[in-house]
Amino acid sequence: MTNGDRIERLYRTGDLPDEELSALLVSLDQKEFEHLCERACEVREKVYGKEVYLRGLIEFSNYCRNDCYYCGIRKSNRLADRYRLAEDEIVACSDAGYELGFRTFVLQSGEDLSYTTADICRIVSRIRSRHPDCAVTLSIGEKSRSEYQAYYDAGAERYLLRQETSNPVHYRKLHPPGLSIENRKRCLYDLREIGYQVGCGIMVGTPGQTPEYIIEDLRFMQKLDPQMIGIGPFIHHKDTPFRNQPDGTLQDTLHLLAILRLMFPHILLPATTALGTIHPLGREMGIRAGANVVMPNLSPRGVRKKYLLYDGKICTGDEAAECRACMERRIAATGYKVVVSRGDYRA
Ligand code: SAM
Ligand code: FES
Repeated sequence: MTNGDRIERLYRTGDLPDEELSALLVSLDQKEFEHLCERACEVREKVYGKEVYLRGLIEFSNYCRNDCYYCGIRKSNRLADRYRLAEDEIVACSDAGYELGFRTFVLQSGEDLSYTTADICRIVSRIRSRHPDCAVTLSIGEKSRSEYQAYYDAGAERYLLRQETSNPVHYRKLHPPGLSIENRKRCLYDLREIGYQVGCGIMVGTPGQTPEYIIEDLRFMQKLDPQMIGIGPFIHHKDTPFRNQPDGTLQDTLHLLAILRLMFPHILLPATTALGTIHPLGREMGIRAGANVVMPNLSPRGVRKKYLLYDGKICTGDEAAECRACMERRIAATGYKVVVSRGDYRA
């Protein structure tokens, strides 16, 4: 089979055998890549038209009890300048975001146990009652099923938790003992069963990642059947154990985005900040490869620079309104359009 045949088969059937997927992942020339992107855009437009959805990201705390080797806010990074937002500040971010046309708020943080389950539930329900036409997404890590249930009952309908890698050996290379892929997967299945719209995902180009591991991830995603998949390049952070590791590449990330779109035609797929960090037009290229979500930052300007997961993170100096306007211009330049909408999954 040629790469052209593989792309056409993936386009028609949404799947390929492992060895064909592997061939597609490792060898693609520029023309073949363009063919892949054209097909990805066609599939996306059948489901979502030209619409691109906005998520307002509120990074409310950079305290974390975990020590993931790749992450700039890991607990052992003594140089991280820690902050946590008060409940009223978080709610105020959502009010400001609402005025700017956001209809989804993503509350993200390290695993900061100083916010109790009751605190998170109160924050979620305050935002939902002030803005009933908005969705709240949580991205606050691994919790017990009963905690997930409590957030859901309080009004959180979506949850983002990347598996990072589905392979247990690779997982142990990226995380210290105590964290396991088994628990990560347990969380994802609990979230699905409770009724959340679930997002999983991986970083592209993490140390030790192989095409076989990526295929394992794709197979896991097929089983989980998520509504969102977040992928972005791994980018080193100077104060982590992975400081000397090479970053993931733009091309590999775009390539995987387009394959994901063909395998999961209905998926909500962000063009991430990390993609915009490794190339100034990375997010626009992500949209052209099949992504349909962007997540501008709504965190107060004073704390943006502190939520530094990796070196060089973009958009840390702008006001929320500037980010919003900038994103609108950038998306318009791709031929797509930002819409004021919750941007729910379309089955
Ligand atoms: N604590 C929550 C969790 O674990 O899901 C949410 C915060 S965590 C910082 C959000 C995501 O950032 C992770 O899932 C990971 O994929 C990504 N991330 C962390 N360090 C990164 C790095 N060095 N390069 C790119 N992405 C990174
Ligand atoms: Fe916890 Fe990165 S180590 S958010």
